[in-house]
Amino acid sequence: MTKVAVWCRHKEDNVIGIGPHIPWRISSDFKRFRRITEGQCLVAGQTTYESFPNRTLPNRKIAVLTFDTDYEVSDPENHFVVCDVKLLKDFEEDLYISGGASIYKLFMTGGAKLMPDIIVDSMYTGELNPELKGSKVDITPCIDIMNKQYRQVSKDYEQDGVVTTVHVKKGDFVEQSVLKRIIQAIEAGEE
Ligand SMILES: NC(=O)c1ccc[n+]([C@@H]2O[C@H](COP(=O)([O-])OP(=O)(O)OC[C@H]3O[C@@H](n4cnc5c(N)ncnc54)[C@H](OP(=O)(O)O)[C@@H]3O)[C@@H](O)[C@H]2O)c1
Repeated sequence: MTKVAVWCRHKEDNVIGIGPHIPWRISSDFKRFRRITEGQCLVAGQTTYESFPNRTLPNRKIAVLTFDTDYEVSDPENHFVVCDVKLLKDFEEDLYISGGASIYKLFMTGGAKLMPDIIVDSMYTGELNPELKGSKVDITPCIDIMNKQYRQVSKDYEQDGVVTTVHVKKGDFVEQSVLKRIIQAIEAGEE
């Protein structure tokens, strides 16, 4: 199993959300996320899962992390509830860690021993939507860890004010076929 974290954060302050919302709307960023995760199994916190349109994303399985053992998913054939993250350690399929902040931190900070093998780090360089109300959610601890413990293995891909780079954990084996598929999915947006 290869674990891949995929996020888009705001330059400098590492904000990924305001309240339940992503504070920018960049169509090419959503499309890149879709290409990278299509056909894969996502891990999402309950707040992020609730923010998906109709609580779903087509052509993807979703593991929804919640402490609520009675939580009902929208599509029981493709989505399932995980109340104890340790249960994902023995998961066979690759996992695409898709937020929000509490889930990135849960995987990245190492306590659960589930650190991602690969990070797709997209950085939005524009302005945050000033109309959104709510507190800012940032992933600075994850970026600090990425900067220390991961190395960049791709060039910088720039599109619509978003710079995307791919990183792997220093010293660890990385499944090259997964890495190649991810890079191809990013580069498909350049055509
Ligand atoms: N820019 C991006 O790339 C991106 C991507 C995804 C999300 N976001 C943004 O991130 C924000 C949401 O982040 P968030 O941190 O507030 O919420 P979240 O991580 O999406 O979900 C939090 C919920 O996950 C569950 N959870 C957390 N830790 C758990 C654990 N150890 N075991 C089981 N369940 C656990 C809890 O659900 P229960 O309360 O049900 O127990 C918790 O309330 C939003 O603004 C969203 O738009 C941004």
